[in-house]
Amino acid sequence: MSTHHTARPHPPGPLDRWYEQAGVRTGVRRMFHEETERGRVFFPAGLVPYAGHEAVRRLPPERVRELTVRHLYQFLLSTTHLETRVVNTAAEAVANARTGLDLPPALRPDAFKVYCDEGYHALYSLDLADQIAAATGIAIPDEDYGGFVDRLRTSARRALPDAPALAALLQAVVFETLITAVLNEVPGDPSVVGVVRDLLRDHARDEGRHHRFFSALFRELWTHLSAADRVKAAKALPELIRTALTWDLAPVRTSLRLAGLDADTARRVADDCCAAGPDLRRLNDTARSTLRLCAAVGVFDLPGMREHFAAHGLGDGDADPAATEPVEQETQ
Ligand SMILES: [Fe+2]
Ligand SMILES: [Fe+2]
Repeated sequence: MSTHHTARPHPPGPLDRWYEQAGVRTGVRRMFHEETERGRVFFPAGLVPYAGHEAVRRLPPERVRELTVRHLYQFLLSTTHLETRVVNTAAEAVANARTGLDLPPALRPDAFKVYCDEGYHALYSLDLADQIAAATGIAIPDEDYGGFVDRLRTSARRALPDAPALAALLQAVVFETLITAVLNEVPGDPSVVGVVRDLLRDHARDEGRHHRFFSALFRELWTHLSAADRVKAAKALPELIRTALTWDLAPVRTSLRLAGLDADTARRVADDCCAAGPDLRRLNDTARSTLRLCAAVGVFDLPGMREHFAAHGLGDGDADPAATEPVEQETQ
């Protein structure tokens, strides 16, 4: 039996107080009460990429409301896929020491904590979508909301064909250092249904801790990579970032069809508004912590890498190497 982690104290970690802080340990089930939510939107209009399209603006208000509800479903259900299929694939490998990398043993219990958190996030995301569908009568379309998991996998494996374990870790690091920014866009918006804001705030709190865990993991794995693998990994990052922030088109098209647009118009709106991913300002805003982390480990010191990121519309995160950690989550 190994005794490797009995003696050496390790520095404070982001999940040290998990038993007292994690949503799955201490949170409440968020319930949708339709009567108290009247007059609010289900998702911020500014974050529904096709809401401003002229073909959508011509629709009756009731159809637009249904579109917004289905956009929330897409957000929640694509979250369930990412949590359980991307993040937990990586968390499991770390937790069971199956990465093939010589990682610190202290990461193993923390990875199981992440694993528990993500399973719970998937559960409550599905639960809220089901509650809203039951209360509003706006059905959840029978769609595959996990399409971009496949896109993420494809781009990670294309970049690192000989290192599938590393590719899986890299996708998780990218996603986990982006998601806090995505989740934090909604809870402060008073126009949005309260239970949606509460749920996303719950999620963001856990993700603030995950962010620090995956930042530490990235630093560890970066130190283990050969020079050649560092270049391959760094080259993969821009596409992984973009893919993680680009909506799947198929569920968007289906939702637009259900709102009354014909097939050609639905396809055109989805292509115009979603295919290219977020605009450059939003892309860089959302990816700021990921880019800072890249800067901190030295990604942009590799020859040509700053230009490679710039070719994908990504800057270097105004890199202050000391500023890789989110600070806002622990205040509540
Ligand atoms: Fe999560
Ligand atoms: Fe997470």
